[in-house]
Amino acid sequence: MRKLGKWLLIVVGGLAVLLVIAISVTIGWRPFLGPKSRPLTSRTFERTPQRLERGKYWGKGCIYCHSPHDWAAPGAPIVAGMEGSGEVEPYANLPGRIVAPNLTPDPATGTANWTDDQFARAIREGIGHDGRALFPLMPYLNFREFTDEDVASIVVFIRSLPPVHHELPKTEIIFPVKYLIRSLPQPITAPVGEPEGMSDPVKRGARLVKLGGCADCHTPSDKGEPVRGMDFAGGAPFVGPWGSVAPANITPDPSGISYYDEALFLQTIRTGMVKARELSPIMPVQVYRNLSDDDLKAIFAYLRTVKPVHHRVDNSLPPTFCKLCRLKHGGGDQN
Ligand code: HEC
Ligand code: HEC
Repeated sequence: MRKLGKWLLIVVGGLAVLLVIAISVTIGWRPFLGPKSRPLTSRTFERTPQRLERGKYWGKGCIYCHSPHDWAAPGAPIVAGMEGSGEVEPYANLPGRIVAPNLTPDPATGTANWTDDQFARAIREGIGHDGRALFPLMPYLNFREFTDEDVASIVVFIRSLPPVHHELPKTEIIFPVKYLIRSLPQPITAPVGEPEGMSDPVKRGARLVKLGGCADCHTPSDKGEPVRGMDFAGGAPFVGPWGSVAPANITPDPSGISYYDEALFLQTIRTGMVKARELSPIMPVQVYRNLSDDDLKAIFAYLRTVKPVHHRVDNSLPPTFCKLCRLKHGGGDQN
């Protein structure tokens, strides 16, 4: 009996060691320990007209996601008078109910009691006001690129919004995603300034494309992982009240947007029309149309440098299986 006990102890101990190794090399310990975060500071951002202007420029994207839309109306406009008051994310296939909260300073349903640093930490570091890891549909992984001055400006702008009373349910993420996302947030503890080389349009364009989240939609992903070799090649459809719409291939391949020139790109983003063809409002031109000519030209300059990928995506055709991205989208069977 004593011998059996000893063996059991060794086996159980061995299994425990294996489990520790397996967790360390796969999902890591964050799902159990909670997200990496830094303590909040008491910093406040001085309200200046310059910051308000700059914050408004970047803030269009925040307002787009954090406001209720009329998804059935042409162009899916934000419901008038509800800017910044939050929305239950309308996309099907999300792992649970994801709610972009009310950012306005309404005392009962909004952010009147939050501090500037609670906002700043959420935007770039992915930690909610209550300390939890945010679902990465809130693009904090992209927003890490914002400089300290950008973040200060965005916070000044968001806090200038008029209060809107808008009660929303809480985010509820399903198991195991709820735990897995805890490994995503990364604290920022050193100053973040403007990166080098921003006079080069291609480099500036790359940064804008990151901040704008173009790849989040235009690079197909399967269960949250980008499909390898398909950067900006389109395909993973958005399903919701608007039907099923796949993001386009925006690489410079003939099956992508090789036929674009700078003028057509600017016109498309400003009008939401590719000549006579109207784009689905899932392509958030209502955000990007507000960018300056210079910034849009930089984005186009960068897109011209990405690897051309052959991948036909055509929303005028019914969704069919595509062997390239292994998803179902319009024109998939022609690949
Ligand atoms: C693509 C959509 C999207 C964009 C763009 C976006 N957000 Fe969010 N945001 C979300 C979602 C969804 C959540 C909720 C995540 C969750 O509950 O886990 C969120 C959460 C937050 C939170 C945390 C709230 C809390 O509970 O503490 C803040 C603050 C915030 N966003 C501010 C911003 C600001 C400022 C911007 C613009 C710079 C922005 N968001 C852009 C979707 C977005
Ligand atoms: C929320 C998802 C989403 C984001 C973010 C997004 N797009 Fe799109 N985009 C789409 C969808 C969906 C379409 C296809 C619309 C259609 O076919 O009606 C599209 C279409 C386009 C087209 C038109 C291509 C054509 O058919 O001629 C261009 C150009 C484009 N996107 C560029 C961009 C750029 C540049 C960015 C980043 C600054 C971006 N998109 C960000 C979803 C997105």
